[in-house]
Amino acid sequence: MILKNKKGVIMGVANQFSIATGIAKAAAEQGAEIVYSHLPDTTGKMLKRVSRAVDGLSPKGIHPCDVTSDESIQTFFKQAANDLGDIDFVVHSIAFGDTKDIKCPTVECSRAGFAQAMDISCYSYIAVCNEAQKYMPNGGSTISLSYYGGEKVVPGYNMMGICKSALEMTTRYLSHDLGPKKIRANCISAGPIKSLSASAISDFSKMIDQYEQNAPLRRGVTQDDVGQVASFLLSDLSSSITGETLHVDAGYHVMGYFDSEA
Ligand SMILES: NC(=O)c1ccc[n+]([C@@H]2O[C@H](COP(=O)([O-])OP(=O)(O)OC[C@H]3O[C@@H](n4cnc5c(N)ncnc54)[C@H](O)[C@@H]3O)[C@@H](O)[C@H]2O)c1
Repeated sequence: MILKNKKGVIMGVANQFSIATGIAKAAAEQGAEIVYSHLPDTTGKMLKRVSRAVDGLSPKGIHPCDVTSDESIQTFFKQAANDLGDIDFVVHSIAFGDTKDIKCPTVECSRAGFAQAMDISCYSYIAVCNEAQKYMPNGGSTISLSYYGGEKVVPGYNMMGICKSALEMTTRYLSHDLGPKKIRANCISAGPIKSLSASAISDFSKMIDQYEQNAPLRRGVTQDDVGQVASFLLSDLSSSITGETLHVDAGYHVMGYFDSEA
């Protein structure tokens, strides 16, 4: 139980296929007490979806948060601290880009679409950490989710690759700023996993096939794989790791050439 007595916030559960749901399952299994966010809406549909996804994990609270609004982030953390007391960890598993700006060649993506994708997929990690640190007097761990398309050109990932590159650098700067408060910032760079967000990426199934054929471990990765590594990064076992991007990708990123005969 590496997260026994740890209290944290997981942002980014949309449904049972979300990477955040895999993290939630693993963290709850390791003893964490968790508050979740859901996208605000007037119908209650989002709350219902998140509740269903984390059903059985004994959530300490589920509250609305739209990361494009500082006020919404502030209210969310106030509610989370009300449920939990001091906070030990934060999971930011959030990204958004308008499909038309992802599906078009990067050179044609719109100014407004780029700004929105950067705001939700990158800046929001800064805004979330800035608010969260007020409730982390004992230090703690924060993580965000990246993808290999932020390091190398992955056709189809397009504009989102630029957002992930910025997110990984953001993580390093956050580690510097938050380190003196014993708050860590790390990224998990996950291999492709079928989810709601992934449906915006062209040729996504081809990407998964590539991993199964060419990754050193000859397999893709799952929400559960990411959940296990996230639990480690959220726990004290990783207390000397910060500013890192850790690949959970069956080793795919080490390859420079694919030998089709292998
Ligand atoms: N699925 C993959 O293959 C893969 C691989 C590597 C990294 N990632 C990253 O993992 C993270 C989670 O993605 P996922 O694949 O689980 O998809 P997902 O669609 O399940 O999760 C994305 C989450 O972002 C939330 N979100 C979007 N806009 C928001 C806003 N304004 N305010 C608050 N929340 C907002 C959505 O509600 C959703 O819960 C993302 O950062 C994604 O880029 C995904």
